[in-house]
Amino acid sequence: MNEWKKICAVTDIPVLGSRRVQRVKGPQVALFRCADDNIYALLDRCPHKGGPLSQGIVFGNAVACPMHNWTIALDSGQAREPDKGCTPKFSLRIEAGQVWLNQQELATTGIDFEPLKAGPCAKAC
Ligand code: FES
Repeated sequence: MNEWKKICAVTDIPVLGSRRVQRVKGPQVALFRCADDNIYALLDRCPHKGGPLSQGIVFGNAVACPMHNWTIALDSGQAREPDKGCTPKFSLRIEAGQVWLNQQELATTGIDFEPLKAGPCAKAC
């Protein structure tokens, strides 16, 4: 197995935005692009109550979770004080404008967490 998997071009990720990477098991991986074009990869799961970080607001080198506004550092996955917790991060490589993720980490990191459930309301709203 190749150690690295090509995911997308850097330019496929919106500036100050994200793109999700589907995996066979576990929650998706969120790729974030900052204003300075740095790219980061975190499990798309907030360490607080599992909110989708890919839907948050990217600012500086952090993302604000859309659920309760915790701030998560993109380079470490660590929640900023006074909050506590960490979401797993993924190694990545940028080569010729392409983003590559580590295959081993894609297969193993954070797969024990439940994937986010999204879709239409079960009850009439
Ligand atoms: S789930 Fe992210 S701040 Fe609560």
